[in-house]
Amino acid sequence: MKITVIGAGYVGLVTAACFADLGNQVLCAKKTSKNLDKLNKGISHIYEPGLSEILKTNIEKGRIEFTNDIKRAIDFSDIIFICVGTPQSDSGKADLSQVEDVARQIAENLDNYKLIVEKSTVPVNTHQWVKKTIKRYSKDNIEFDVSSNPEFLREGTGVYDFNNPDRIVVGVESEKASTIFKELYRSFTEKGSTLLITTPAAAELIKHASNSFLAMKISYINMIAELCEKVGIDINMIADGIGYDQRIGRDFLNSGIGYGGSCFPKDVKAFIKIAEDHGLDFGLLKETEKINADMRKRFLEKIENVLWMNKDKNITIWGLAFKKGTDDIREAPAIDIVRELNKTGANLRLYDPQARENFQKLFLENKNIKYFSDKYEALKDSDALLIITEWEEFKKIDLNKVKGLMRLPIIIDGRNIYEPEVMNGFEYYSIGREKFEKSEIMK
Ligand SMILES: NC(=O)c1ccc[n+]([C@@H]2O[C@H](COP(=O)([O-])OP(=O)(O)OC[C@H]3O[C@@H](n4cnc5c(N)ncnc54)[C@H](O)[C@@H]3O)[C@@H](O)[C@H]2O)c1
Repeated sequence: MKITVIGAGYVGLVTAACFADLGNQVLCAKKTSKNLDKLNKGISHIYEPGLSEILKTNIEKGRIEFTNDIKRAIDFSDIIFICVGTPQSDSGKADLSQVEDVARQIAENLDNYKLIVEKSTVPVNTHQWVKKTIKRYSKDNIEFDVSSNPEFLREGTGVYDFNNPDRIVVGVESEKASTIFKELYRSFTEKGSTLLITTPAAAELIKHASNSFLAMKISYINMIAELCEKVGIDINMIADGIGYDQRIGRDFLNSGIGYGGSCFPKDVKAFIKIAEDHGLDFGLLKETEKINADMRKRFLEKIENVLWMNKDKNITIWGLAFKKGTDDIREAPAIDIVRELNKTGANLRLYDPQARENFQKLFLENKNIKYFSDKYEALKDSDALLIITEWEEFKKIDLNKVKGLMRLPIIIDGRNIYEPEVMNGFEYYSIGREKFEKSEIMK
């Protein structure tokens, strides 16, 4: 099938590349010419495992192209995926100006039937506004459908998630739109994936409700982790114990410094606002946000309790991205941690395998903030190592080498990536594991 994708960020690029990889013909529209040449050579400007490989293959096969000519992109196909940003506005609401902008551009170039698909995360009933906008700005009375097909991929596993969805949700208002989606996702349903066809409003709401639920699950386990610290129980014993309950599940029950990224913080906030606009006080989600913000403060308190004074101490930070597998630093816990530690006069030595470039745009290198391209180099003469992102390479470190390089063997782990029993010789602190214990699990 021929598919147009508008927006070449984390979602747009993965969507475009993966649809092409399935054998479709894809034209992906960018707003500007920045990185256009690179993309047309198959070089991704964002880091997402596996993305560069499928981009290259499909460029070579002539199945995907990138353009900044929006008219050409709209003319190209009858299926248009809107994958632009919906960031948080000052009020906490989702800022839908990029979606409105695209809706107007589609209207101005509409001359035959189009299925317009909201893939961006938008508040419930946004499709009504998209429809109204297209009707207002289009010259002729041309048939079109506006549908919702929210994206559930996770950065860091975006390509895998696209190809292995737990479910595909589409919200449609016509039989025609439904038929197009069934055809588009046929290879998935044939493999056994669930395609849930619902109304556009329900599809929009499903996305916010899902993300908020997952954020809530993280805050819930983090609150239990706090309690575990107070009563001297290892949080992992609790997470395992409740996670084996199939109604709950073990995913998203890893305690740590809290969630960040471009989705959970803004989507939870937007969902609270959506409820508020309908006269509801979503206290449950407000508490979710509060617990998440508190995790960062408590982590800073933990550092102070261990180091006492930070001034002139060398503190190494491993992990700047908001999670492993991405170069995205939007709402990353590392931003707050670096900002606050920087105020205390510590010498910060930062390392991340992918996010350094993005982080350097926020915090320039200076006498107190140094960047390293080698994680061991960053540890030299360090008084403490902080783990902020759960990158796999941090889990496989040579602990003897680490100890040999540091001035003091202190590790404060915000992601609980190490097994406490192998940390002999270190002062090792983590989240919800003041007392380290393990349950015996027999199957
Ligand atoms: N990042 C994720 O993990 C994820 C997962 C699921 C859903 N989402 C949702 O998907 C949407 C996109 O997220 P993202 O992370 O890809 O954002 P992003 O900021 O990485 O990308 C959005 C892109 O859209 C482009 N854009 C804006 N207006 C445009 C226009 N008129 N024409 C062409 N391009 C235009 C921007 O330049 C930007 O590159 C958001 O609504 C987000 O909430 C994100």
